[in-house]
Amino acid sequence: MSDEIPVTRLVVSDEEAERLRCVIRSASLMGGRVPSARVAIPDDAEALADLLRHESIGPKIYTMPDPINRETMSEFITDHLAQQVRGDGILFASFDREGRATAYFDVEVWPQWSIAKFGGAVRSERQGRGFGGLCGLAAVEWCFDVLGVARICETTAPDNQRSIALLARLGFRQLGRITSVRPNGTSRPSIYWEMERASWRGAAAPRSAVSAAIRPDDSLLA
Ligand SMILES: CC(C)(COP(=O)(O)OP(=O)(O)OC[C@H]1O[C@@H](n2cnc3c(N)ncnc32)[C@H](O)[C@@H]1OP(=O)(O)O)[C@@H](O)C(=O)NCCC(=O)NCCS
Repeated sequence: MSDEIPVTRLVVSDEEAERLRCVIRSASLMGGRVPSARVAIPDDAEALADLLRHESIGPKIYTMPDPINRETMSEFITDHLAQQVRGDGILFASFDREGRATAYFDVEVWPQWSIAKFGGAVRSERQGRGFGGLCGLAAVEWCFDVLGVARICETTAPDNQRSIALLARLGFRQLGRITSVRPNGTSRPSIYWEMERASWRGAAAPRSAVSAAIRPDDSLLA
């Protein structure tokens, strides 16, 4: 993770920071638009590895371990369970009827500044059909409506057109470029984005702007 983010660091009261930690600690289901999304547990390691090792996913996400396999995903999940106990991160995953992981949502939180960052991906064969738009919207709603942070930040690789289109449609604003550091110490340039809860709640624009993204192919909701 880069020391450069989050860019906006407005200190909130100790009580508010602790409230955010408590919401994270007590979460189990994500709820909302992706009903099967729940906190990932070590038994999900193989299913998550199966989702994430695809060439369209793992290499695009700078926070992913390399290589991606059952062992590294087990460590990834265990680390996130420790984050959840601390109250500064949580990992959700969704599954289909066959038990395959269909998406994951990795939420990192800076409670002292009331800001969250989420990363995620959807299963390769589901990409480009609106499911990512639905998952992105679900993640924003969890961060703002359930967790209640003041703002969300995001990073995308400059050539990740789907993520860029998705974040712009959700109402995120580009604030500039940063350098993202991978777990192995290498780095990549990223576009940095933020969105405030006030603009999400207050304006008709962000919600109407996601209207296309929230109507995925019906088969993807199973
Ligand atoms: C990024 C990701 C979550 C998007 O989900 P998705 O289901 O593939 O995307 P959607 O079908 O919901 O489309 C999202 C946007 O990309 C656009 N899009 C879809 N396919 C595209 C393509 N081939 N090229 C450019 N834009 C494309 C869509 O039109 C949509 O934009 P809009 O809302 O303005 O119409 C998904 O592709 C993914 O998991 N990618 C690999 C991992 C990754 O990059 N994660 C994000 C790291 S920041």
